[in-house]
Amino acid sequence: MAVVSFMLVLAFLILSIASPSNGGITSSYVRKTAASVDLPFDSLTSPPGYNAPEQVHITQGDHVGRGVIVSWVTPLEPGSKFVTYWKVGDDEHKKQAHASTNTYKFANYTSGFIHHATIKNLEYNTKYIYEVGNNNATRRFFFTTPPEVGPDVPYTFGVIGDLGQTYDSKQTLEHYNSNPKGQAVLFVGDLSYADHYPLHDNRRWDSWARLVEKNAAYQPWIWAAGNHEIDFLPENGETVPFKPFKHRYHVPYKASQSTSPLWYSVKRASAHIIVLSSYSAYGKYTPQYNWLETEFTKVNRSETPWLIVLLHSPWYNSDNYHFMEGESMRVMFEPWFVQNKVDIVFSGHVHAYERSERISNIAYKVSNGQCTPVLDPSAPVYITIGDGGNIEGLANNFTDPQPSYSAFREASFGHALLELKNRTHAYYSWHRNQDSERVVGDSLWFYNRHWYPQKESSDAATMA
Ligand SMILES: *[C@@H]1O[C@H](CO)[C@@H](O)[C@H](O)[C@H]1NC(C)=O
Ligand SMILES: *[C@@H]1O[C@H](CO)[C@@H](O)[C@H](O)[C@H]1NC(C)=O
Ligand SMILES: *[C@@H]1O[C@H](CO)[C@@H](O)[C@H](O)[C@H]1NC(C)=O
Ligand SMILES: *[C@@H]1O[C@H](CO)[C@@H](O)[C@H](O)[C@H]1NC(C)=O
Ligand SMILES: *[C@@H]1O[C@H](CO)[C@@H](O)[C@H](O)[C@H]1NC(C)=O
Ligand SMILES: [Fe+2]
Repeated sequence: MAVVSFMLVLAFLILSIASPSNGGITSSYVRKTAASVDLPFDSLTSPPGYNAPEQVHITQGDHVGRGVIVSWVTPLEPGSKFVTYWKVGDDEHKKQAHASTNTYKFANYTSGFIHHATIKNLEYNTKYIYEVGNNNATRRFFFTTPPEVGPDVPYTFGVIGDLGQTYDSKQTLEHYNSNPKGQAVLFVGDLSYADHYPLHDNRRWDSWARLVEKNAAYQPWIWAAGNHEIDFLPENGETVPFKPFKHRYHVPYKASQSTSPLWYSVKRASAHIIVLSSYSAYGKYTPQYNWLETEFTKVNRSETPWLIVLLHSPWYNSDNYHFMEGESMRVMFEPWFVQNKVDIVFSGHVHAYERSERISNIAYKVSNGQCTPVLDPSAPVYITIGDGGNIEGLANNFTDPQPSYSAFREASFGHALLELKNRTHAYYSWHRNQDSERVVGDSLWFYNRHWYPQKESSDAATMA
């Protein structure tokens, strides 16, 4: 029986590979062609009150979801260095966590006072209220901790990339916010696009954080860094890459034995999430390479069935913008992704939406000429979701014909949701900004590569 089904799968694979037809769907949807311009700086205002805390955002603060890092900025003086928090309905037991406070300069800009407080040992699956500020201006928010890590724990992630701070960015954010399902955000890099301005005007890092606060203060955003986080400006003395990003966005990298906030992992509900840096060294013997090699040995699919990777520059994508920029990292890491049966890789960078088939391209050796991606049931699905809506506009020039590795592609702004149901099934959907939230532009029932490695078929593929 097993042999027969194996033969069938093999036959299917051979047929699929041999098929001369091109790939999946190129959506014919044409979005409105309005230009993406940044929201006026003065429209992204600070909250009222003397030295009021602003730019409040949270992320996971430990390896398993019982910690939260709360970050905020006070513009005029350091102010209170504590975050006060308590369980909903239990305000007789308020606790405090101490914040580290720093400032930084960038060219002719000086930041406000940036605070990061790590709250630890929270109860799982519990709603907490937290407060920052002092008597003159106190601001109150809340978050819900995830359930305890486990194989069948349902959990829903939003997925957003390349957001920026245009009218389109705002629409993406509001669209995601209006969906009650999302519990945490996987952010695949390129945050503020402050580097679009002369001297990378870092006030645009402040305004971006004010824009996203309405979601990021309530849900943890799991951060990956993109090229717009590099902020390298040697002619103005800024020779240390990632300076504004690293000061403003702290992540729990030490909890996964990483030596850099640019690559790390977290476990959340039924997912093991690995964050990589496309713009840090990843060649053999480098810190990122060594860390990832060890990290894969720590993944336990009995505990976290879903293995998800975030990295900014896509390995598979068929847009003419940024084509093959992710290639050198693919060459280094793709064999590990296939061996370890990564379920999904989320990337950004290309300002369009695209989903791949499960494909790999690991047979190639310099001398053997085998350099064509092939269907591979052990390989991840690659999703490019750099369509948050930033100032650079859409990447709407796809290669033609659509390559066989591409299952669905569309140049529209939007976001996605990944609903982990149990150890075998996850429902994934992509939502373009022009539709109401309930409209699904692309979707797939994901089957877990470890527990249920069957072939998936998307709505789009069924329609074809
Ligand atoms: C920094 O330099 C820019 C460009 O020369 C200028 O527009 C801006 O006002 C300066 N900012 C400060 C704080 O001096
Ligand atoms: C409250 O605001 C006033 C200025 O309006 C300031 O002098 C005072 O130091 C502030 N108090 C605190 C506790 O920050
Ligand atoms: C993997 O996780 C399961 C479930 O939590 C646990 O029983 C098992 O000991 C873990 N295996 C390793 C090697 O840690
Ligand atoms: C699309 O990309 C191709 C390949 O880079 C280029 O030759 C072509 O001019 C581009 N088309 C447009 C409309 O930009
Ligand atoms: C896992 O979730 C899928 C989708 O909701 C469902 O069809 C399936 O029965 C679930 N599996 C188990 C073992 O509950
Ligand atoms: Fe990018």
